Amino acid sequence: MPYPIVLSHYQAGPLLAARRAGADRAVTSPDLGLSTVEVALTAEGVAFPSGEALAWPELERIARAENQCFAVEDGAARPIRVFSETTNWLRSLMPTAGAPTMLVAGFPMHRIKDTDPWADTRAKVAAAAPVTGDVLDTATGLGYTAIEAAKTADRVVTVELDPAGLEVARYNPWSRDLFENPKIAQIVGDVFEEIARFPDGSFSRVLHDPPTLSLAGELYSGAFYRQIHRVLRPGGRLFHYIGDPTSALGKRTTAGVIRRLGEAGFRRVERHPEAFGVVASK
Ligand SMILES: C[S@@+](CC[C@H](N)C(=O)[O-])C[C@H]1O[C@@H](n2cnc3c(N)ncnc32)[C@H](O)[C@@H]1O
Repeated sequence: MPYPIVLSHYQAGPLLAARRAGADRAVTSPDLGLSTVEVALTAEGVAFPSGEALAWPELERIARAENQCFAVEDGAARPIRVFSETTNWLRSLMPTAGAPTMLVAGFPMHRIKDTDPWADTRAKVAAAAPVTGDVLDTATGLGYTAIEAAKTADRVVTVELDPAGLEVARYNPWSRDLFENPKIAQIVGDVFEEIARFPDGSFSRVLHDPPTLSLAGELYSGAFYRQIHRVLRPGGRLFHYIGDPTSALGKRTTAGVIRRLGEAGFRRVERHPEAFGVVASK
């Protein structure tokens, strides 16, 4: 599909300000900051070079929505959000000054406090560096870890349980490589079951960025860790995102994860507080 224009308050606010200042042209981003275009500011609204136009009341609506990105389609701004029949969670694309994140049942899927979703992603992948060979990404989300890993890996297999998540990702300009990079293979399914299909020693790295423990307990279980250990080749490494290691929940969860990874056969488990996780070596 041709990509729709995607806007948030980071674009709408300055466009409204330019209009108030009497400008008849302005530079804005049609893809949440990835590129810029020059637009015409008319009496009715904003006219994009692609032919799309958006009326001022629509831009005012976008400017008011702090936590929501919008796709511009047929002259209207549609919130990028999907209710998931699989999980009963509302998922929506939430803007930041950089890459957007996904709000799942109100919780951001990436770290946004003192960092941004792409820096968060780089920290996760860097913790397992060098990320080479075949990589398993256990939880696709917006595809950021898969996209970042594919920069150095030969191949990335990424698994997502919830098709609604992928629907949101399809509208996200920052997720395009998830659908376009031939090195990335997507599986829609439960990684707890899907992982059993891979032969022993299939991957050199596993990137595990699951939802929080209370939402996805089995992805923190000894049974799942034994499967990760099995599909890693000898010398392979797992990065496991856990959460803020200084919070009470993070401390408790990290201690349990380290213990169960050891019991699953990993010979060394190192804390990576900068990435809010641990790295386990086979
Ligand atoms: C924290 S997000 C992953 C973010 C991702 N690393 C990224 O860069 O955008 C966790 C994702 O795991 C998915 N998920 C939850 N349970 C799963 C399961 N059993 N199998 C596969 N994916 C699952 C959720 O739907 C959610 O999209």
